[in-house]
Amino acid sequence: EREQHQSKKEAHQMAAKFYHHLLMNTEQGKEAYDYLTARGISEEIIEEFQLGYAPERNDMLVQLLEKREYDLEEMEEAGLILRQESTWQRYDRFRGRVMFPIHNQRGQAVAFGGRALGEGKPKYLNSPETPIFLKHETLYAFPKARQAIRKQDEAVLFEGYMDVIAAWKAGVKNGVAGLGTAFSKRQAEQIRKATDKAVIAYDGDNAGRAAAWKTGDTLVNQGVDVRVALFPEQMDPDDFIQARGPEAFRKQLAERAVPFMSFKVQELRENKNLQNEGDRLAYIEEVLRETSVISSAVEREFYMKQLAEEFDLSMDALREEERKVQKEDQ
Ligand code: GTP
Ligand code: MN
Ligand code: MN
Ligand code: MN
Ligand code: MN
Repeated sequence: EREQHQSKKEAHQMAAKFYHHLLMNTEQGKEAYDYLTARGISEEIIEEFQLGYAPERNDMLVQLLEKREYDLEEMEEAGLILRQESTWQRYDRFRGRVMFPIHNQRGQAVAFGGRALGEGKPKYLNSPETPIFLKHETLYAFPKARQAIRKQDEAVLFEGYMDVIAAWKAGVKNGVAGLGTAFSKRQAEQIRKATDKAVIAYDGDNAGRAAAWKTGDTLVNQGVDVRVALFPEQMDPDDFIQARGPEAFRKQLAERAVPFMSFKVQELRENKNLQNEGDRLAYIEEVLRETSVISSAVEREFYMKQLAEEFDLSMDALREEERKVQKEDQ
């Protein structure tokens, strides 16, 4: 059983090399190479992240695996190849895509993310869950980033592969990304083993902010101190770096990121008209619902004082309201 998994990993390593070679040295890889160049990805970065290109043709990888005498059934289990229902013909899972190798905690290639060139659908195709690739236990680029995370005692969490890579290029090397799935408790535990601080740098749209809220809660539950870096509505970190440059980006993370609770307060305020009494009361209640579970009394007090000042309320009144909210939540 262990040996089986070994050859699944070896096959991924080999496939990564193969895809990388096609990107760097062949005519068929040229379109992908140009695509990456247009997105500001240099050869140095391609090498660093071992990016590759999976060709359009149906069965290039199948043939290579066969030549190297891999058990094709096992390669199917590993997620690298598929079989057509009607003809039983084997074919490559990834075709015509820029390839991002995904590594496990020990730095072994265990999966791929593949991006369509241009507008193809789906935009990203990821390896399926397999015996060697457990999505909720994997973070993109974690083995690469671990040292920087430890050294800086902080991790940066992104939504996308391209964000991690653009950040790396901009000198931020403690960045990792989830894999398009909800950030899990296991992933938070892994971060917590390396550091107790994280900055969430998700996309600036509604989906990104909603995901930041959930990811933040998951990290806080594991004892990680969280800040949130906000980006303009239509931008993700990669776009931001392209538009404003590395220095502005680093500043955004270092100086502009706000404590998680401030982010929540800001979000709660977002769709409310605080001139309106009903909205105002709802807002106060929602803020108290969030602050009442903060374990640090000092921090809790800080946000309550803010509320008290903002609405000219007594701390006594707020504490009473807090108790009411807590009772409702039980
Ligand atoms: P670019 O357009 O290349 O800059 O990608 P992006 O990372 O900005 O994409 P987006 O913000 O839409 O998605 C963030 C992450 O979600 C990606 O890096 C993927 O991991 C995942 N994702 C995005 N689109 C898809 C999809 O169509 N299918 C799957 N399975 N995952 C996706
Ligand atoms: Mn190379
Ligand atoms: Mn620490
Ligand atoms: Mn994005
Ligand atoms: Mn993007």
